[in-house]
Amino acid sequence: MTIPAPTASVDLTLRDISAGTTGGGTCTTELLDAPWDVDARDPGYGPGASMADTAPATAPRQGEIPQEYRAASSEELDRRIRAAKAELGDRVMVLGHFYQRDEVVQYADYVGDSFQLATAATARTEAEAIIFCGVHFMAETADLLSTPEQAVILPNLAAGCSMADMADIDQVEECWEQLMEVYGEGEDADGIAPIVPVTYMNSSAAIKGFVGRHGGIVCTSSNASTVLQWAFERGRRVLFFPDQHLGRNTAKAMGIPLEQMPMWNPRKPLGGNDEQALHEAQVVLWHGFCSVHKRFTTDQIAKARAEHPGVRVIVHPECPMPVVDAADESGSTDYIRKAIEGATEPTSFAIGTEINLVQRLAAQHPQHTIFCLDPVVCPCSTMYRIHPGYLAWALESLLEGEVINRISVGQDVAEPARFALERMLAAKPAPVSSTPGR
Ligand code: 13P
Ligand code: SF4
Repeated sequence: MTIPAPTASVDLTLRDISAGTTGGGTCTTELLDAPWDVDARDPGYGPGASMADTAPATAPRQGEIPQEYRAASSEELDRRIRAAKAELGDRVMVLGHFYQRDEVVQYADYVGDSFQLATAATARTEAEAIIFCGVHFMAETADLLSTPEQAVILPNLAAGCSMADMADIDQVEECWEQLMEVYGEGEDADGIAPIVPVTYMNSSAAIKGFVGRHGGIVCTSSNASTVLQWAFERGRRVLFFPDQHLGRNTAKAMGIPLEQMPMWNPRKPLGGNDEQALHEAQVVLWHGFCSVHKRFTTDQIAKARAEHPGVRVIVHPECPMPVVDAADESGSTDYIRKAIEGATEPTSFAIGTEINLVQRLAAQHPQHTIFCLDPVVCPCSTMYRIHPGYLAWALESLLEGEVINRISVGQDVAEPARFALERMLAAKPAPVSSTPGR
């Protein structure tokens, strides 16, 4: 297995690969030098793991950014970003998801998983602007949880999420209508609903609003089992979207049989199920997935075990069920980080999650051998779209009194979406932020 060199920077690794100085494969190095050229193309997720996914025509497009940011060297961008941040001081807060490239993470005031970033957005109400170096649904969530006076900025509007886009609000409304015909509306005599909708954080604000209007709740990969327990206290069944894998892995770990987890394919009547299967269901899974985590396989795990005896295999619960079952543990990005931090003896770790986080962890913990299960350096196509040039543009625009790329959720959606998020924040988190692996 080719293990990438323990540099924190995926940019540098891709640069080495494209210069032919390092072995190993890559999806493509196309985003390296001119991500703005990719943004100007037809709607699509661009190079990286989601390259083959179909982006909806309504996906936000990124307009051209000023030439000065496209032409600037990395040294110049570094100087300008630091100067703008220093001048803005407490007026701005920069948030970075663990999957962001190091070239961007270095400027973040707070780095975390999607749950931590959702709460971090509420922590500094004096900041006029929150620059979210993550993806679109995360920026929407920050807008929902921050004050109305705060502006949330996504430096590159092309930073969407292919999984979030797999649950389209019209399809979800249609699914709900069909399910209500099968189950009948309203609670039973004990106040139990026939089905409770649960959406993964990785979904649009419109979907969170839908869930809020129908007595449902949001979850993240760090609290999915707590949230499912919450839902089963209120409903006979759960409709889980968009990620079938997180839904299946979490429900399976709770003891729910696979036969009671039918999949809903929005292109088929009754999602491709018969009425009996839907009546017997405990969890109806939406047909969505993450193209980064879909890349991990049981063969990769077998190879890691053969080549690194005693290796500890930890994967994200967005991986397919056989991969989670074959791993030693599974958990959110923060669970993975803490598991490595907590290892007191030099250990080999094979990790099934996005390459930027894995390489950063490898660089931070040289006493361990840490490598990505997938030997191909293939970043999340959309996280990777946040380039320092976009961050410099957002910061310097703020200095000039201009808010670019503001993410603002409409009031009709925001109110119910906030209910669903507040239910999640109030649901008692599990003591350890993990989804058991088997
Ligand atoms: P976390 O919730 O673990 O941060 O994961 C977010 C994500 O997008 C995973 O693909
Ligand atoms: Fe979306 Fe997957 Fe990228 Fe996470 S890693 S932002 S789920 S495409």
